[in-house]
Amino acid sequence: MPGVTVVDHPLVRHKLTLMRNRDTSTAQFRRLLREISTLLCYEVTRDLPLEPVSIQTPVEPAEGARLAGKKLVLAPILRAGVGLLEGMLDLIPAARVAHIGLYRDPETLVAVEYYFKAPLDVADRLVIVVDPMLATGNTAVAALERLKERGVTDLRFVCLVASPEGIERLKAFHPDVPVWTAAVDRQLNEHGYIAPGLGDAGDRLFGTR
Ligand code: URA
Repeated sequence: MPGVTVVDHPLVRHKLTLMRNRDTSTAQFRRLLREISTLLCYEVTRDLPLEPVSIQTPVEPAEGARLAGKKLVLAPILRAGVGLLEGMLDLIPAARVAHIGLYRDPETLVAVEYYFKAPLDVADRLVIVVDPMLATGNTAVAALERLKERGVTDLRFVCLVASPEGIERLKAFHPDVPVWTAAVDRQLNEHGYIAPGLGDAGDRLFGTR
C-alpha cells in the first residue's frame, strides 16, 4: 500500500495482541497504548532532518547531530487520540499539541467538530495527527481538512489499527498524507467497528463502558 507504513515490530505486535484481548483491563489497555505510541512515534519521526552540531564531551570535542527543520505538533483527535499523546511526548517533549474535537455521529458515522485548538503557528509546523482507530476514515479526513484549512501543508497520520476502507478513504481525500499504523485489519463491520479490531478504543481507554 503506497503511503502506508505498517509498524510490525515484534514488541508492537505483542502489545497490540494484548490490547485486542477483551479481558485486558482499562489500566493495562492505557499503559499498552502509551507504550505502543512511543514505538509508533519512533517510526513516524525516522526521517526527520538533522543538522551537524559541534559539542564538547567530557573527553574531547566531537561532532554530533540535532533535529533541524520544521518544529512538531502532535494533534490527537479527541477523545481516544489522547491515549497516544503521552507516549509520543515522552520522545518529543518540546512538541506542541493541537486538540481536535470530533466525534462520530452514531447514526450516520459522519464526523462532527466540537472543539479545535492549535498553536498559532501551526501552519509552519509538521503536524502528526493521532487517533487509535482509522475506521470509516470520516474523522481522520475531517481532522486533516480542518488543519489544511488553517494552512498546514506538512501532515502525517498515525493510528494503531486501520481498516482497508479507512485507508482507502483517507488516501482518496488526502493522498499527500502518509500513514503509519500497527495493523491493517480485515474490514469494517455493519456498525462501523473494525473487525477483528479491539472494540471502542475510547471506552476501553477511559473505562466508560
Ligand atoms: N472506533 C473505535 O474505537 N473502534 C472501532 O472499531 C471503530 C471506531
